[in-house]
Amino acid sequence: MSVLEVKDLHVSIEGKEILKGVDLTMKTNEIHAIMGPNGTGKSTLAAAIMGHPSFEVTQGEVLLDGVNVLELAVDERARAGLFLAVQYPSEIAGVTNAEFMRAAINARREDDDKISVLKFIKKLDEKMSILDMPEEMAERYLNEGFSGGEKKRNEILQLLMIEPTFAILDEIDSGLDIDALQVVSKGVNAMRGEGFGALIITHYQRLLNYITPDVVHIMMDGRVVKTGGAELAKRLEEEGYKGLSEELGLQITIEE
Ligand SMILES: Nc1ncnc2c1ncn2[C@@H]1O[C@H](COP(=O)(O)OP(=O)(O)O)[C@@H](O)[C@H]1O
Ligand SMILES: [Mg+2]
Repeated sequence: MSVLEVKDLHVSIEGKEILKGVDLTMKTNEIHAIMGPNGTGKSTLAAAIMGHPSFEVTQGEVLLDGVNVLELAVDERARAGLFLAVQYPSEIAGVTNAEFMRAAINARREDDDKISVLKFIKKLDEKMSILDMPEEMAERYLNEGFSGGEKKRNEILQLLMIEPTFAILDEIDSGLDIDALQVVSKGVNAMRGEGFGALIITHYQRLLNYITPDVVHIMMDGRVVKTGGAELAKRLEEEGYKGLSEELGLQITIEE
């Protein structure tokens, strides 16, 4: 079992404090969801854990099995088993999707244990069929000309291929129709198990109808203000963020 602990994390962007002390602990074999209004710092949390240079950690730590990943270089965080599916995947010209995934898999393996081309292709075929993806997607340049839905599906393909210990999935549901949402959810659910944990960031409850979280955290104004089970997401759907923040006695302006 592996554990990812975020402890009293404070993060600033251009001198402005966005995260004001985030605490959360997750284990493999668990799926956690973070929900919260727009602009509350959800993507900032994901970016800070992965080491995006624009986000300055001013206090706190992020421990992966006791190791502070904030002290690791960005590529070392990935090698340590962290994976981030970003809200807006960028295009990488000149690198095919397949090349990218093979390099990412091999980065996590020892020199004498690189994945063979044959095994890689077999695995790729298997995972692409789970996601109903056409074969040619593997040979296209990464995210270049991919539609919004294709990008999201592709992030999940990377997840299935790279098999990280912990995945942070930022708004993988945004802009998806129901069919695509079901496919993406099927991919995440296929990863569930002993060696895998996920943190699913979403503004809407809808995704959580397909991926049932073990734990739900509500984030508002840079802090986790409430943690509960899957029922918390349902309640939020009924009461809205405004209702919940009033109930918690928070003085926060929320635009829904
Ligand atoms: N690159 C950036 N430069 C300046 N401000 C940013 C940047 N990214 C995010 N912010 C600000 O940080 C706050 C939190 O943003 P974000 O983490 O994206 O929220 P969420 O994902 O919860 O919608 C917002 O006020 C946003 O405007
Ligand atoms: Mg966001």
